[in-house]
Amino acid sequence: MCGIMGYSGPRPPLPLLVSGLERLEYRGYDSSGVAFFNATGAIDVLRAAGKVSVLKERVGSLEGHPGAAIGHIRWATHGAATVENAHPHKSGPIALVHNGIIENEQILRERLKAEGVLFQSETDTEVLAHLIRLEYERSGEFAESVRRALALVEGSYALAILCQDEPADLIAVRQGPPLLLGMGEGESFVASDIPAFLHFTRQVYAFRSGEIGLIRHGDVRVGEISSPSSSWKSPVAQTISWDPFFAEKGTYRHFMEKEIFEGSRALMDTLADRIVPWKTLPELAPFGPFPPPSLTFVACGTSWHAALLGRYFMESMGIPSAVEIASEFRYRPLLLPGGSWVVGISQSGETADTLGALELARKAGCRTLGISNVPGSSLERETDLCLLTHAGPEIGVASTKAFQSQVALLMLLSLALSGAEPETEKLESLIRSPHRLEMFLETMSSERFDQAVERLRQSHLVMFAGRGLDYPLSLEGALKFKEITYRPADGYPGGELKHGPIALVEPGVTVIAPMVDSNLRQKEISNLREIRARGGYVLAIGPSIPENQRGIWYDDRIDLPEVPVWSGVFQAAAVLQYLAYRVAVALGNDVDQPRNLAKSVTVE
Ligand code: G6P
Repeated sequence: MCGIMGYSGPRPPLPLLVSGLERLEYRGYDSSGVAFFNATGAIDVLRAAGKVSVLKERVGSLEGHPGAAIGHIRWATHGAATVENAHPHKSGPIALVHNGIIENEQILRERLKAEGVLFQSETDTEVLAHLIRLEYERSGEFAESVRRALALVEGSYALAILCQDEPADLIAVRQGPPLLLGMGEGESFVASDIPAFLHFTRQVYAFRSGEIGLIRHGDVRVGEISSPSSSWKSPVAQTISWDPFFAEKGTYRHFMEKEIFEGSRALMDTLADRIVPWKTLPELAPFGPFPPPSLTFVACGTSWHAALLGRYFMESMGIPSAVEIASEFRYRPLLLPGGSWVVGISQSGETADTLGALELARKAGCRTLGISNVPGSSLERETDLCLLTHAGPEIGVASTKAFQSQVALLMLLSLALSGAEPETEKLESLIRSPHRLEMFLETMSSERFDQAVERLRQSHLVMFAGRGLDYPLSLEGALKFKEITYRPADGYPGGELKHGPIALVEPGVTVIAPMVDSNLRQKEISNLREIRARGGYVLAIGPSIPENQRGIWYDDRIDLPEVPVWSGVFQAAAVLQYLAYRVAVALGNDVDQPRNLAKSVTVE
């Protein structure tokens, strides 16, 4: 949901702003823009509708004057994706970029209009620029005018702000959406996500909601938006271990492809140091006793699918658990007894609904646990304990390696929470999963998928069906498929097909059946026969699918190695991800930045 980048330091700012915006482009790609000081000391604004590449062309060889500068990529909420609505917005000496939503925008707009302000755009952001400008005209003090203006504003915002009279200064504000500070030698960066400045520094401070930062080159002070200036302090950075290589495509065509193939490394890094003799997840120990009285997962999108798998893992260890879509959970009566655990899963750690659901749970006396991929994220800060998946930064909008690492962590969590000595078979299977996935990914050549990809390209509807663990995998397969191919696709429990979805089956429909859950294979086969009997085409994905059954219950298959179920889940997930990827590429779609989506949904 929009990306912000800001810089204060001695380098010419435009090249680094543009490359930072490219790395943030997964957050939105409706329009982009930059504001910077020119050689005469005035603020120039360049904006473009469409992707950062269009802005990059407009910027050309311009470098901008060293000092402070800001940039933005937009995921449109208020107003269409036009140049006029693109950020930065400027009012007199003030220029700013914004991520979030101003809830009392209409009231403020009318008030400003009555004062004679002329609006250039339909955005809520422009209101902020005018408010700060008016306060600045009254007080003549940059930081104070920001504080006074924001006292009038309701809503959520991350902001980076410039003032014509202070060419080295950058003000950053966070009230809700994420905003990070990268602390370099004599220079500072602000951005909505770490990859934007990872090439320059790994020293990161995550602004807390309600904080304002005054940044002048390497000198940074942080205070509360609502407190007087006496409360300024120096932020304490944490060192991020992410390798800048993660934020590069390398030899891959797309981040999504690269990230699918980084799945095994994501598993390895997530599991590392978390399995010690006879114990899993030692960091969980202070959070006991185990098992918890009740456990509810809350999440959105792909993370919700990981949670659904998590429930199966928990139940297999004898731990009752429930799974809720965060946006629904947070508006239903909360009937959980105090002391219950609510576990929020979020790759970004910033999804507004997941954070909202956890806040509700906390207020009701539940214990909150987070599973996030981003160090310093709101989820990490706002839960009683947060377990990090170590997938590294995920840039492709469609989640792949982060999903794999969430699943691995949930397996581990189920073993840890059972309170019993971990079952050797499951533990071993988990320990071997990264290597097994690595071996499997090496065989996942594109030719192996050609026939299936062609079939899917020609199918007017793709259904995914599975039972047991294969059901959440089917949901995830369908989500990946529709996210990036824009083709109709849905996932179903195999046993539900005949209760309605089978009415859709006819020639031209393909049903993809992940089949790693061997317990239910015979039942799934019956469901698939019913599909074939009605003209549907069945693509089965699993181990040990006999050739002599081709034409009986399946039409085509993608073989998985014969491995224990807990390892098979990762392999099937990789196949589903890669199939969606290959079909989307064949259709000529922009897989890393699919239309209408944003990776991190920081508004409700
Ligand atoms: C968006 C993304 C999905 C993601 C979901 C939850 O909808 O497009 O890929 O699964 O948000 O994101 P989270 O960061 O909370 O896992």
